[in-house]
Amino acid sequence: MAKAKAKKKVSRASRIQGEGDYDATRRYLRDVEKFVHTADIEAAARAAAPRNAREARELKQAEAAGRRHATGAKPAKNWFLRDLESIRRKAREHLSEGALTQNYKGSVEKAIGLLNHAVATEIVCVLRYKFHAVAATGLSSEGVREEFAQHAKEEEAHLDLLCERINQLGGKPQMNPEGLLARASSQYVEGENLVDMIRENLIAERIAIESYRDMVRYFGDNDPTTRVMLEGILAQEEEHANDMHDLLVAHEGRPMLAR
Ligand SMILES: [Fe+2]
Ligand SMILES: [Fe+2]
Repeated sequence: MAKAKAKKKVSRASRIQGEGDYDATRRYLRDVEKFVHTADIEAAARAAAPRNAREARELKQAEAAGRRHATGAKPAKNWFLRDLESIRRKAREHLSEGALTQNYKGSVEKAIGLLNHAVATEIVCVLRYKFHAVAATGLSSEGVREEFAQHAKEEEAHLDLLCERINQLGGKPQMNPEGLLARASSQYVEGENLVDMIRENLIAERIAIESYRDMVRYFGDNDPTTRVMLEGILAQEEEHANDMHDLLVAHEGRPMLAR
Protein backbone atom coordinates (compact mmCIF):
# COMPACT_ATOMS: atom_id res chain seq x y z
CA MET A 1 0.00 0.00 0.00
CA ALA A 2 2.79 2.40 1.06
CA LYS A 3 4.81 1.39 -2.01
CA ALA A 4 1.85 2.02 -4.32
CA LYS A 5 1.32 5.49 -2.82
CA ALA A 6 4.99 6.32 -3.24
CA LYS A 7 4.90 5.16 -6.88
CA LYS A 8 1.84 7.32 -7.58
CA LYS A 9 3.52 10.33 -5.97
CA VAL A 10 6.70 9.81 -8.01
CA SER A 11 4.87 9.47 -11.36
CA ARG A 12 2.81 12.63 -10.63
CA ALA A 13 5.99 14.51 -9.71
CA SER A 14 7.63 13.44 -12.99
CA ARG A 15 5.01 15.37 -14.99
CA ILE A 16 5.77 18.68 -13.24
CA GLN A 17 7.75 21.04 -15.46
CA GLY A 18 9.86 23.97 -14.25
CA GLU A 19 13.28 25.54 -14.31
CA GLY A 20 16.37 23.34 -13.97
CA ASP A 21 17.98 20.25 -15.39
CA TYR A 22 15.14 18.00 -16.60
CA ASP A 23 17.45 15.01 -17.22
CA ALA A 24 18.84 15.20 -13.71
CA THR A 25 15.32 15.44 -12.28
CA ARG A 26 14.21 12.41 -14.28
CA ARG A 27 17.27 10.44 -13.11
CA TYR A 28 16.59 11.39 -9.50
CA LEU A 29 12.94 10.36 -9.72
CA ARG A 30 13.91 7.06 -11.40
CA ASP A 31 16.35 6.33 -8.58
CA VAL A 32 13.77 7.17 -5.93
CA GLU A 33 11.26 4.86 -7.58
CA LYS A 34 13.83 2.09 -7.77
CA PHE A 35 14.70 2.58 -4.12
CA VAL A 36 11.04 2.43 -3.08
CA HIS A 37 10.59 -0.85 -4.98
CA THR A 38 13.79 -2.62 -4.08
CA ALA A 39 15.24 -1.26 -0.83
CA ASP A 40 14.79 -2.98 2.51
CA ILE A 41 13.34 0.02 4.35
CA GLU A 42 13.12 -1.79 7.67
CA ALA A 43 16.79 -2.79 7.54
CA ALA A 44 17.79 0.79 6.67
CA ALA A 45 15.74 2.09 9.59
CA ARG A 46 17.38 -0.48 11.89
CA ALA A 47 20.85 0.61 10.72
CA ALA A 48 20.07 4.28 11.39
CA ALA A 49 18.68 3.61 14.86
CA PRO A 50 20.74 4.67 17.90
CA ARG A 51 23.13 1.93 19.02
CA ASN A 52 22.94 2.62 22.73
CA ALA A 53 21.16 4.71 25.38
CA ARG A 54 23.67 7.53 25.05
CA GLU A 55 23.12 7.84 21.28
CA ALA A 56 19.36 7.72 21.84
CA ARG A 57 19.61 10.61 24.32
CA GLU A 58 21.80 12.65 21.98
CA LEU A 59 19.36 12.00 19.11
CA LYS A 60 16.46 13.23 21.24
CA GLN A 61 18.44 16.32 22.24
CA ALA A 62 19.28 17.05 18.60
CA GLU A 63 15.62 16.63 17.61
CA ALA A 64 14.51 18.95 20.43
CA ALA A 65 17.13 21.53 19.48
CA GLY A 66 16.07 21.33 15.82
CA ARG A 67 12.43 21.81 16.78
CA ARG A 68 13.32 24.76 19.03
CA HIS A 69 15.32 26.33 16.21
CA ALA A 70 12.50 25.77 13.70
CA THR A 71 9.79 27.19 15.95
CA GLY A 72 11.90 29.86 17.67
CA ALA A 73 10.88 28.41 21.06
CA LYS A 74 12.97 29.25 24.12
CA PRO A 75 14.95 26.43 25.80
CA ALA A 76 13.24 24.69 28.72
CA LYS A 77 14.13 25.80 32.24
CA ASN A 78 16.31 22.77 32.94
CA TRP A 79 18.07 22.85 29.58
CA PHE A 80 21.47 22.67 31.32
CA LEU A 81 20.66 19.21 32.70
CA ARG A 82 19.58 17.97 29.29
CA ASP A 83 22.88 19.26 27.93
CA LEU A 84 24.81 17.18 30.46
CA GLU A 85 26.24 14.85 27.83
CA SER A 86 27.63 17.79 25.92
CA ILE A 87 29.13 19.27 29.13
CA ARG A 88 30.73 15.90 29.95
CA ARG A 89 32.15 15.57 26.46
CA LYS A 90 33.60 19.11 26.49
CA ALA A 91 35.12 18.52 29.95
CA ARG A 92 37.21 15.71 28.43
CA GLU A 93 38.59 18.09 25.80
CA HIS A 94 41.28 20.77 26.42
CA LEU A 95 42.41 19.15 29.67
CA SER A 96 45.56 21.28 29.60
CA GLU A 97 43.38 24.32 30.40
CA GLY A 98 42.65 22.96 33.89
CA ALA A 99 39.91 24.97 35.64
CA LEU A 100 39.31 27.12 32.57
CA THR A 101 36.32 25.77 30.63
CA GLN A 102 34.71 26.87 27.37
CA ASN A 103 31.94 28.91 29.01
CA TYR A 104 34.36 31.29 30.79
CA LYS A 105 33.07 34.72 29.84
CA GLY A 106 35.19 37.80 29.30
CA SER A 107 38.89 37.96 28.52
CA VAL A 108 41.20 35.61 30.42
CA GLU A 109 44.19 37.78 29.47
CA LYS A 110 42.56 40.89 30.91
CA ALA A 111 41.57 38.98 34.06
CA ILE A 112 45.16 37.83 34.59
CA GLY A 113 46.44 41.38 33.92
CA LEU A 114 44.08 42.87 36.53
CA LEU A 115 44.95 40.19 39.08
CA ASN A 116 48.67 40.79 38.52
CA HIS A 117 48.08 44.48 39.12
CA ALA A 118 46.54 43.51 42.48
CA VAL A 119 49.49 41.18 43.14
CA ALA A 120 51.89 44.14 42.84
CA THR A 121 49.68 46.24 45.12
CA GLU A 122 49.61 43.52 47.78
CA ILE A 123 53.40 43.01 47.67
CA VAL A 124 53.92 46.77 48.23
CA CYS A 125 51.41 46.64 51.13
CA VAL A 126 53.20 43.67 52.73
CA LEU A 127 56.55 45.46 52.48
CA ARG A 128 55.21 48.76 53.82
CA TYR A 129 53.40 47.16 56.78
CA LYS A 130 56.42 44.98 57.62
CA PHE A 131 58.70 48.00 57.58
CA HIS A 132 56.28 49.96 59.78
CA ALA A 133 55.94 47.02 62.20
CA VAL A 134 59.69 47.13 62.76
CA ALA A 135 60.37 50.86 62.49
CA ALA A 136 57.48 52.32 64.53
CA THR A 137 58.73 53.95 67.72
CA GLY A 138 57.25 56.00 70.50
CA LEU A 139 55.51 55.65 73.82
CA SER A 140 52.33 54.12 72.49
CA SER A 141 53.78 52.27 69.52
CA GLU A 142 53.56 48.72 70.91
CA GLY A 143 49.89 48.09 70.04
CA VAL A 144 50.25 49.85 66.70
CA ARG A 145 53.25 47.71 65.74
CA GLU A 146 51.22 44.59 66.45
CA GLU A 147 48.43 45.93 64.27
CA PHE A 148 50.88 46.65 61.44
CA ALA A 149 52.37 43.14 61.74
CA GLN A 150 48.88 41.56 61.68
CA HIS A 151 47.95 43.55 58.57
CA ALA A 152 51.20 42.48 56.89
CA LYS A 153 50.20 38.82 57.41
CA GLU A 154 46.72 39.43 56.02
CA GLU A 155 48.05 41.29 52.95
CA GLU A 156 50.33 38.30 52.35
CA ALA A 157 47.30 35.99 52.51
CA HIS A 158 45.60 38.21 49.88
CA LEU A 159 48.71 37.89 47.74
CA ASP A 160 48.55 34.08 48.01
CA LEU A 161 44.89 34.04 46.97
CA LEU A 162 45.56 36.24 43.93
CA CYS A 163 48.55 34.14 42.82
CA GLU A 164 46.54 30.94 43.19
CA ARG A 165 43.69 32.33 41.09
CA ILE A 166 46.09 33.54 38.36
CA ASN A 167 47.50 30.02 38.27
CA GLN A 168 44.01 28.50 37.97
CA LEU A 169 43.31 30.79 35.01
CA GLY A 170 46.46 29.51 33.29
CA GLY A 171 48.53 32.64 33.95
CA LYS A 172 51.79 33.41 35.72
CA PRO A 173 51.90 35.59 38.85
CA GLN A 174 54.29 38.49 38.30
CA MET A 175 56.54 38.39 41.34
CA ASN A 176 59.55 40.03 39.68
CA PRO A 177 60.52 43.04 41.86
CA GLU A 178 61.60 44.95 38.78
CA GLY A 179 58.92 47.53 37.96
CA LEU A 180 56.89 46.50 41.01
CA LEU A 181 55.93 50.04 42.09
CA ALA A 182 54.89 50.97 38.55
CA ARG A 183 52.52 47.95 38.45
CA ALA A 184 51.02 48.65 41.90
CA SER A 185 48.18 51.00 42.83
CA SER A 186 49.48 51.73 46.31
CA GLN A 187 52.69 53.55 47.19
CA TYR A 188 55.59 52.65 49.41
CA VAL A 189 56.00 55.48 51.93
CA GLU A 190 58.11 54.92 55.06
CA GLY A 191 56.73 57.89 57.02
CA GLU A 192 58.55 60.25 59.42
CA ASN A 193 56.78 59.17 62.61
CA LEU A 194 54.06 56.89 63.95
CA VAL A 195 51.18 59.12 62.88
CA ASP A 196 52.68 59.47 59.39
CA MET A 197 52.88 55.68 59.12
CA ILE A 198 49.28 55.21 60.19
CA ARG A 199 48.12 57.90 57.74
CA GLU A 200 50.06 56.36 54.84
CA ASN A 201 48.55 52.96 55.57
CA LEU A 202 45.06 54.46 55.68
CA ILE A 203 45.68 56.11 52.29
CA ALA A 204 46.98 52.81 50.85
CA GLU A 205 43.96 50.91 52.18
CA ARG A 206 41.59 53.45 50.63
CA ILE A 207 43.36 53.03 47.28
CA ALA A 208 43.11 49.23 47.58
CA ILE A 209 39.38 49.47 48.42
CA GLU A 210 38.71 51.62 45.36
CA SER A 211 40.67 49.23 43.09
CA TYR A 212 39.06 46.06 44.43
CA ARG A 213 35.56 47.56 44.23
CA ASP A 214 36.15 48.34 40.54
CA MET A 215 37.49 44.84 39.94
CA VAL A 216 34.47 43.25 41.65
CA ARG A 217 32.21 45.21 39.27
CA TYR A 218 34.35 44.23 36.28
CA PHE A 219 34.27 40.49 37.00
CA GLY A 220 30.55 40.46 37.90
CA ASP A 221 28.91 37.32 36.52
CA ASN A 222 31.64 36.71 33.95
CA ASP A 223 33.93 35.10 36.53
CA PRO A 224 32.05 34.52 39.82
CA THR A 225 34.96 32.67 41.46
CA THR A 226 37.33 35.62 41.03
CA ARG A 227 34.59 38.06 42.01
CA VAL A 228 33.80 36.20 45.27
CA MET A 229 37.51 35.99 46.12
CA LEU A 230 37.93 39.73 45.49
CA GLU A 231 34.85 40.49 47.59
CA GLY A 232 36.49 38.67 50.51
CA ILE A 233 39.72 40.65 50.08
CA LEU A 234 37.75 43.89 49.71
CA ALA A 235 35.92 43.26 53.00
CA GLN A 236 39.25 42.79 54.79
CA GLU A 237 40.73 45.94 53.21
CA GLU A 238 37.71 47.84 54.57
CA GLU A 239 38.47 46.44 58.05
CA HIS A 240 42.12 47.50 57.64
CA ALA A 241 41.07 51.02 56.65
CA ASN A 242 38.77 51.18 59.65
CA ASP A 243 41.57 49.99 61.96
CA MET A 244 43.95 52.62 60.57
CA HIS A 245 41.30 55.29 60.86
CA ASP A 246 40.70 54.41 64.54
CA LEU A 247 44.43 54.44 65.24
CA LEU A 248 44.78 57.81 63.57
CA VAL A 249 41.94 59.21 65.67
CA ALA A 250 43.53 57.75 68.81
CA HIS A 251 46.95 59.22 68.05
CA GLU A 252 45.90 62.55 66.60
CA GLY A 253 43.13 63.03 69.14
CA ARG A 254 40.45 64.19 66.74
CA PRO A 255 37.89 62.41 64.59
CA MET A 256 38.72 62.24 60.91
CA LEU A 257 35.29 61.40 59.59
CA ALA A 258 32.09 63.35 60.10
CA ARG A 259 29.53 61.03 61.71
FE1 LIG B 1 45.36 43.36 50.77
FE1 LIG C 1 44.83 45.97 53.56
